[in-house]
Amino acid sequence: MNVPDPSQSPSPSPSPRIRALPHVTDAQVRELAGVLIDCVAGGASVSFMSPLTIERACAFWQGVADSVARGERELLVAEDAEGIVGTVQLVLAQPENQPHRGEVAKMLVHRRARRQGLGAQLMQAAEQSARAHRKTLLVLDTSSPDAERLYARVGWQRVGVIPGYALLPDGEPCATTYFYRALDAETPQPSAAP
Ligand SMILES: CC(C)(COP(=O)(O)OP(=O)(O)OC[C@H]1O[C@@H](n2cnc3c(N)ncnc32)[C@H](O)[C@@H]1OP(=O)(O)O)[C@@H](O)C(=O)NCCC(=O)NCCS
Repeated sequence: MNVPDPSQSPSPSPSPRIRALPHVTDAQVRELAGVLIDCVAGGASVSFMSPLTIERACAFWQGVADSVARGERELLVAEDAEGIVGTVQLVLAQPENQPHRGEVAKMLVHRRARRQGLGAQLMQAAEQSARAHRKTLLVLDTSSPDAERLYARVGWQRVGVIPGYALLPDGEPCATTYFYRALDAETPQPSAAP
């Protein structure tokens, strides 16, 4: 009988790494499309009806990539050994009377990586990025009960529900819930002595 040698057993896969993509490649557009398609296939109300084709998903992410290139939004991704497994966006571009406000959008985690704390880590990264951009107020809306629990857990304030706001991928109407989060202004760093 072969007894497995513990020294030869594969090490546990490293936890996903979160980073901002300042430039989005075609390969990354396709990976992001894969995450979006999986979420829609799982019934998430994230702007698209089912079935979502790779072409439509790639067209959406190409638009996001162009917006990132224009500096209108920040795109954060979580990557594991297989590629992008989660993502969230921070929309920076706002009307001129709301320079302090940002919007969190398209929080998506592939079903293979859920319930491991990735959603919470992506929110933390989005808030960190918002602070770095001197945003002091964030807003979002969601039709997902899973996401509602996540946002409340990480300190967001639930505002209220709009019934019949959107459709689920199968055509069923669903409500959306609005949230906001006030961020402490970043403590100004003392300037270096001349
Ligand atoms: C909403 C969503 C982003 C959450 O992502 P996630 O990575 O699963 O989030 P987390 O892992 O941080 O938290 C999810 C749950 O796992 C639990 N969890 C976190 N780490 C865990 C761990 N190590 N072991 C066991 N459970 C864990 C959390 O407590 C939470 O439990 P709850 O749902 O009972 O409250 C994901 O479900 C998703 O992509 N949904 C589809 C798209 C969508 O609707 N997005 C929202 C758009 S606004």
